[in-house]
Amino acid sequence: MTILAIDQGTTSSRAIVFGTDLRVRASSQAEFAQGFPRSGWVEHDPADIWASTAATARAAIENARISGRDIAAIGITNQRETTVIWDRRTGKPIHNAIVWQDRRTAETCAALKAAGHEPAVSAATGLLLDPYFSATKAAWILDQVEGARTRAEAGELAFGTIDSFLIWNLTGGQVHVTDATNASRTMLYDIHQGVWSQAMCDLFHVPMAMLPEVRDSATGFGNTRTDLFGAAIPICGVAGDQQAAAVGQACFLPGMMKSTYGTGCFALLNTGGTPVASRNRLLTTIAYQLDGKPTYALEGSIFVAGAVVQWLRDGLGVIHNAAETGPLWDRADPGQQVIMVPAFTGLGAPYWVPEARGAVFGLTRATGPAEMARAALESVGHQTRDLWDAMRADWPEADSSAVLRVDGGLSANEPAMQFVADMLGVPVDRPADVETTARGAAWLAGYHAGLCPGPDEQAVVWQLDRRFEPSMPQDEREARHLRWRRAVDAVIAVA
Ligand code: G3P
Repeated sequence: MTILAIDQGTTSSRAIVFGTDLRVRASSQAEFAQGFPRSGWVEHDPADIWASTAATARAAIENARISGRDIAAIGITNQRETTVIWDRRTGKPIHNAIVWQDRRTAETCAALKAAGHEPAVSAATGLLLDPYFSATKAAWILDQVEGARTRAEAGELAFGTIDSFLIWNLTGGQVHVTDATNASRTMLYDIHQGVWSQAMCDLFHVPMAMLPEVRDSATGFGNTRTDLFGAAIPICGVAGDQQAAAVGQACFLPGMMKSTYGTGCFALLNTGGTPVASRNRLLTTIAYQLDGKPTYALEGSIFVAGAVVQWLRDGLGVIHNAAETGPLWDRADPGQQVIMVPAFTGLGAPYWVPEARGAVFGLTRATGPAEMARAALESVGHQTRDLWDAMRADWPEADSSAVLRVDGGLSANEPAMQFVADMLGVPVDRPADVETTARGAAWLAGYHAGLCPGPDEQAVVWQLDRRFEPSMPQDEREARHLRWRRAVDAVIAVA
């Protein structure tokens, strides 16, 4: 038997067929259009999300030379926070999906913050008042689409993050559910009580009648329509993509931490059954929920990590492909101290300044593509260090001999990962299987279906590809990071 993992991400939809040993058997991937209707706005057409998901799932099944009857369970992992509202009767979305990167509700969040609501929001949801999360996006749609609010109050409309929207479509509109990890990103969910928060729904003007039922991350989420894959396949695992990556990295013990370098960088530190309130502007979130028990994490979210390499290629035009950054790094003049703060879409954790924009410091006449490429890659290490410092300060119990597990596209970049180790002063471990997000979803599904072993055994089969040991002297590490902090202060000062 096999497990199908659906990984619906920000820029592409992927489907991967795993064996029950969690080895990849086949996969398929399709990019879809990004909509930028105004500066700072980012939208997806939900029809594209659904079509690309269904098409890649079918293609992966075909590539694995199996049929839908050979799939024992489906696991879903998804871009988080992105918000869809649809009509329960027709299944049709009433507006494009508003993507997590979208900043259109920045003013609403600023006004709520100025009115003193942030402490209550953080206490209930573990989050900060930022447009990143779903609540203000959902309210925006209800306010802009004529009649939507009345229809939502009457129970005619459904709200969902992408997991809910996909499950609705996979089950032919039979099931309106989400899992606790995705719920914990909406700013409407009380992460302590494990229920939707009436106070948050009132504050953000989101009617409770439109919210999905919240379930564990490994449980029954309904069966697929038989006409989709030729069989009614049970959906048995769901988690937001960053949480699924933590599961795929087997970060099952308190103190274990992973960092995923995709478009952005999302670091999660497992804090066990205790939600740790951050004093350093990190997020408290649900890492996974098994058998009704949530495991919590501290999360640091950085909006631009891998995207800085894309910018070197598409914006600056100094490289043709990501692999060229390695040789460029080697050629960079060690005497030049160029610092790049890639705040292209504002600063995320631990600064949270949506208005900030990027800057480069230390340019000379001798600065060229090599120094720019090195500064871009170094920004990833500096940002990870900022998160690391905040996590240690928030949770001193964290083991000082800890390591950071890394994954995502940029984890293949050797100089960048070495610099992360140098900035943190601890080893950085890259696993043999870097498909950690899909692997996490597959494990959740396989675990519920009785095909995969429990967390303890799963942790044992995690395999190391390469360990990056820190090699920079301590005084140099601290001096360089201090210059970065000063550069960030300057970026904030002019925002
Ligand atoms: O919180 C946003 C995150 O889930 C997006 O991840 O990999 O789709 O860019 P990704």
